[in-house]
Amino acid sequence: MRTLKPQDARRIEALIGRMTLTEKLGQLTMMAASHTVTGPVITGHSVDDIRRGRIGNLLNLIGAAAAREMQRVAVEESRLGLPLMIGLDVIHGHRTLFPPPLAEAALFDPQAWALTAREAAREAAADGISMTFAPMLDVSRDPRWGRTIEGPGESAWVGERLAQAKVRGFQGTDLAAAESIAAVAKHFCAYGAVTAGREYASVDVSDRALLEVHVPPFAAAVSSGVAAVMPAFTDLAGIPMTAHGAMLRGRLRRQLGFEGVLVSDYNAVAELIQHGVAADLVEAAALALAAGIDIDMVSGAYLQGLPVALERGLVTLAQIDESVRRVLALKARLGLFEDPYRRGASAESAAAVAGRRRLARDVAARSIVLLTNREGALPLSTDIHRLALIGPLADAAAEMRGPWWSAADPEAQISVLTGIRAALPQAQIFHASGVEIVGADESGIAAALELCDEAQAVVLCLGEGATMSGEAASRAHPQLPGRQQELAEAVLRRAGARSIPVIAVLFCGRPLIVPWLAERASALLAAWFPGCEAGHAVADILTGRASPSGRTPITWPRAVGQIPLYFEQRSGGRPTDSGNTFSSRYIDESTEPLFHFGHGLTYGHFNLSCLRVTPESANPSDTVQIRVDVENQGERRAQETVFLFTHRLKSRVAPPLLELRGVGKITLDPGTRGTVTLLLPVMELQSLGPDLEPTLEPGAIEILVGPSAARASLLTGRLEIVT
Ligand code: GLC
Repeated sequence: MRTLKPQDARRIEALIGRMTLTEKLGQLTMMAASHTVTGPVITGHSVDDIRRGRIGNLLNLIGAAAAREMQRVAVEESRLGLPLMIGLDVIHGHRTLFPPPLAEAALFDPQAWALTAREAAREAAADGISMTFAPMLDVSRDPRWGRTIEGPGESAWVGERLAQAKVRGFQGTDLAAAESIAAVAKHFCAYGAVTAGREYASVDVSDRALLEVHVPPFAAAVSSGVAAVMPAFTDLAGIPMTAHGAMLRGRLRRQLGFEGVLVSDYNAVAELIQHGVAADLVEAAALALAAGIDIDMVSGAYLQGLPVALERGLVTLAQIDESVRRVLALKARLGLFEDPYRRGASAESAAAVAGRRRLARDVAARSIVLLTNREGALPLSTDIHRLALIGPLADAAAEMRGPWWSAADPEAQISVLTGIRAALPQAQIFHASGVEIVGADESGIAAALELCDEAQAVVLCLGEGATMSGEAASRAHPQLPGRQQELAEAVLRRAGARSIPVIAVLFCGRPLIVPWLAERASALLAAWFPGCEAGHAVADILTGRASPSGRTPITWPRAVGQIPLYFEQRSGGRPTDSGNTFSSRYIDESTEPLFHFGHGLTYGHFNLSCLRVTPESANPSDTVQIRVDVENQGERRAQETVFLFTHRLKSRVAPPLLELRGVGKITLDPGTRGTVTLLLPVMELQSLGPDLEPTLEPGAIEILVGPSAARASLLTGRLEIVT
């Protein structure tokens, strides 16, 4: 993080010497305006609290004029004139929505991740926002958990790179610049491992899982200079993260070197009472401050509880001043003292907004994953002239936003119907929803089926509504909701009778359990929630204007009973694939996923060959070069993504079956070939020994390269580590 200017450090110390206790606690308080609701609405505060220095930070305030007015009250009407930090959940765009993080992860492209964050920061800053509660870095291997959509998917390796890219994008190279905003890495830590995928449930993972999977993305955010971190609502092995001194002051600050601000999650300080570790707001506030929480979001526990906690000797004034110092230092780094009105001072040009929407369309198309494509059903023939568009997500513009839509206008989203009509102006597009997203009414199916009788192809738009994933949206049955399966099966039968293709497009915030659909549809795509340009992006892929390149960043289970299912599993002593009765398996289900991590088809046909590993014997200071030849044997130009995995053959700690070490991409015209080169520094092959300390063991390592984590698809080489 950029160091504090000496004059700012002096200003802060002088301020602390002048501030009353209430003014100090005001700087440690963030209250919610009501322009959007992201948790239980807490009342009892007002603009006058800003005037009296009792509120020093706001969230959920939308609009440059509103932000400017609140800033004016703070700066011009309060005793010390301390500027506000104004935060919002700009998770995947502000007014212009990009795909949510899980969908963006499907690009496997850190440059794109940084670019969308930069654009989101510009747009949010133009509205007076100075902090976003993003990136969300919770690794998740459980599609039942609704917040899987907000994070990097199942891989810590992806999480680390998403963290670096997003922090860079949001904060830019100058945090004080008008278009830069403070990033908040959340939710520290292991929130993605909630019990049974149930929202806010307890988390109890091993120290090894914590250090191998859940901490690394946050370590990457810290090393990238993230301005703030938000602890998770959840308890970790019984200790609520909001009061977890060992993880916050120990692991995060001392071991990872985090010097920024810790902002609690929404009302989380007060909820220490519900956790059962605090009798009242006084104890809750004392526990949170002692653990290192600097800003109390919304609960008012710091304002109400800390004065009493101070009297009772539960906290010290020095602890309060330490937090005030960090908050004022962040405001100084944001340039809020120099010019509190810098953000929101000027509206963006129409050209800037138009350029942002073009980027949104491109990123959305690249996030779409082509899961199946039988007999080349896709891309649709460009001279198609009768197309049936069926399903509750076909004309559902607002649903395309996904669960964290920030300030995006629902009317500004492009539906699939609009996109398809624009892409195929000569064609007759017959549209029917058939059924609702949820609900038991099947009366619309008959009319939808009649459209199949007129059409040359059917596009089914199915899946979840925007609020069926995200926060407080865990699902015990993560499959198609409502009567969508009944609709789809009826359409598949009707269309099948006429031998016309059925293309199924899933809009979802998680892998859905749809083996029957994967088996029967002519083609199946995961479009996730494509954002404001959804309809154009989907049409671009279906018509071949864009060639699908997305790869799923999370394994798609075949059954809920397989969860958690992920590629970094360990072998166990009776491996799944040993084939005998006494092996790790189910008697009623396969152990194979529906789709492996990294799976995604293209409109090309790629063949990988000739894997070269040089040197084949390497020492710790070496960087190994891995090359593989790629040929496009198809008829269309396309981009192939190549994954580099390793598998240590023996280690003092049972090694994962696969570990992701790199990703390469190559775009090839039909009939051409190229070479993908991946570089692997040997030191990246360190692992955590039995003592959980990093170690580089000598020995043999398999090098595996291929289009996904499906082992059968991987070319294998060997590397010997000599130390
Ligand atoms: C919510 C979420 C958190 C968000 C915060 C502010 O409850 O848990 O991710 O940033 O409150 O909206």
